[in-house]
Amino acid sequence: MRLILLGPPGSGKGTQAQRLVQRYGIVQLSTGDMLRAAVAAGTEIGLRAKDIMAAGGLVPDEIVIGIISDRIDQPDAHNGFILDGFPRTVPQAEALDKLLKQKRLELDAVVELRVNESALVQRVETRAAETRARGEEVRADDTAEVLTKRLASYRAQTEPLIEYYSERRKLLTVDGMMAIEEVTAEIQRILAAVGSAEPKAARKPARKAALARTAAKKPAKTAKKTTKSAKKVTKSARKAARKASKTPKKRGKKAAKKVVKKSVRKAARKAPKKSVKKVGKKAAKKVTKKRAKR
Ligand code: AP5
Repeated sequence: MRLILLGPPGSGKGTQAQRLVQRYGIVQLSTGDMLRAAVAAGTEIGLRAKDIMAAGGLVPDEIVIGIISDRIDQPDAHNGFILDGFPRTVPQAEALDKLLKQKRLELDAVVELRVNESALVQRVETRAAETRARGEEVRADDTAEVLTKRLASYRAQTEPLIEYYSERRKLLTVDGMMAIEEVTAEIQRILAAVGSAEPKAARKPARKAALARTAAKKPAKTAKKTTKSAKKVTKSARKAARKASKTPKKRGKKAAKKVVKKSVRKAARKAPKKSVKKVGKKAAKKVTKKRAKR
């Protein structure tokens, strides 16, 4: 399953992502967490993002798109992922569409968590207080002042994504004002209703793997067959070419072509048409060249 969680700061994206991860056995890809890790590690990206994040602005599109593209390619994301905090702008959404297309992946749904702005301040303040109580460092952007700026960024740059995904029939809206457990239950209900969700326990890895193996074997078998036939055809064509080269000079080009054609027709009865045609033409050219040289 591939999912996007969309919503303003403090709407519960991170909270719900963690719960869905456990249920569906997929990974949470949070650009906020990745950027905070980069800031903490003092990487080049971290240095570029630090002040922007602390001020409640958005980090440049090319940075987050690069991060997400690399992350989607990691083996743990092959089973599916939840994008938390990405995309955040229309160009990011367009880039994601392109990325998924290139990687031949489908987006299942975009879940929008709708929460009253007045509740967000309270939530972020509570989170900051809880973090402090645990003796951990409080996020630089978890203040009422910066939250106002984050909300302004959300309204101006992220909210247009609601229409973007609604037009593409991917948007599912959930009331994020309910208790955490109720929001989770509602997300699971709507995902099941649209047929996107398949809980981890419901999947049968052994059967799935067996089916995948069978599916993978089929084309390989066909490919093997085709290669075999192609080899046969090549052999016959070579034989034809040899025969043609032995044909007396005066019968020349015409005779050579005739011999090649005859042998190729014989081979064609045993092999796919396309390969025969190609090999036949090639052999004929070879013979013609040889003749021309002489
Ligand atoms: P990011 O880390 O993504 O922050 P955010 O979107 O502002 O969201 P939050 O993490 O604050 O909230 P959340 O919605 O995850 O809610 P949570 O579950 O924590 O981004 C931070 C910054 O990084 C950005 O401002 C930007 O600078 C940069 N950035 C990131 N991605 C970017 C991108 N793609 N492009 C450009 N820049 C990017 O919940 C909050 C609190 O509420 C918790 O305490 C929780 O317990 C509580 N809570 C949750 N649900 C409920 C509920 N139903 N009822 C009561 N309390 C609840």
